[in-house]
Amino acid sequence: MIYSIVQNKGGVGKSTLCINFAECLAKLGKKVLIVDTDAQANSTSYFGIEQGTLYDSMIGDDKTPLQVVATVNPNIFIVPADLRLSDCEYSLSQRIAREQILSNKLEPLKNKFDCIVIDTAPNLGVLTINAILSADALLIPIVPEPFSIQGFNMINNMLTRLSTIRKTQIPYRLIMTRTKNTALHKETIDQMKKAYGNLVLETRIKESIGYAEQSLGQGAKKNTYEYLSLTDEIIKAF
Ligand SMILES: Nc1ncnc2c1ncn2[C@@H]1O[C@H](COP(=O)(O)OP(=O)(O)O)[C@@H](O)[C@H]1O
Ligand SMILES: [Mg+2]
Repeated sequence: MIYSIVQNKGGVGKSTLCINFAECLAKLGKKVLIVDTDAQANSTSYFGIEQGTLYDSMIGDDKTPLQVVATVNPNIFIVPADLRLSDCEYSLSQRIAREQILSNKLEPLKNKFDCIVIDTAPNLGVLTINAILSADALLIPIVPEPFSIQGFNMINNMLTRLSTIRKTQIPYRLIMTRTKNTALHKETIDQMKKAYGNLVLETRIKESIGYAEQSLGQGAKKNTYEYLSLTDEIIKAF
């Protein structure tokens, strides 16, 4: 199963979801491969990886993603990102079928892992499109505020266009992240539930300082139960 985490707005908790979802899947005994397609490399640096990267495998044909897989622990593996990925937009612009490079490259890895989780950059550029077209399911984190919802509308339009390439709809679920106990957040979540029904997962990821500390590598993992419950919901959803 390949999950891609997409949202063209930054700071909504994509990388935090990627890290915690992967760790929860690993806790359930699954062998997980993370593919970091964001040049900012937040997921990569969280796991402290610095070696050879996705870029080498996307641009050069000489390296398969398997050759750039780094081992985090016996259950978590990662195809790491680095800053050079920001150059892909340009480097791949002349390539034929450039939207499906990643999907082709991941094909031989599928049966080596139980799950592949792809983190993406906050844009809908060529790498994010590659991530979407590689996915069996999309996870879309949304902070329940107007800008994030606009971001989702852009993804939705993109999905409609991409489903003509894939010839099938790509299933997705919306995940409410960084939620606060404010009237705006409550109202927006209600509106999203009305508009999208069961596509909005029940588990909410609350705004919590623990996640910010986690990204600084301070290991203060609060509310892990939120991600365990979310992981359970995601597995059942697809
Ligand atoms: N639920 C949360 N509560 C508080 N801070 C959060 C939460 N989720 C993420 N963050 C913090 O917000 C910042 C952006 O999150 P991140 O996951 O990197 O978003 P994205 O990948 O969408 O840009 C990071 O510093 C992260 O630690
Ligand atoms: Mg990120």
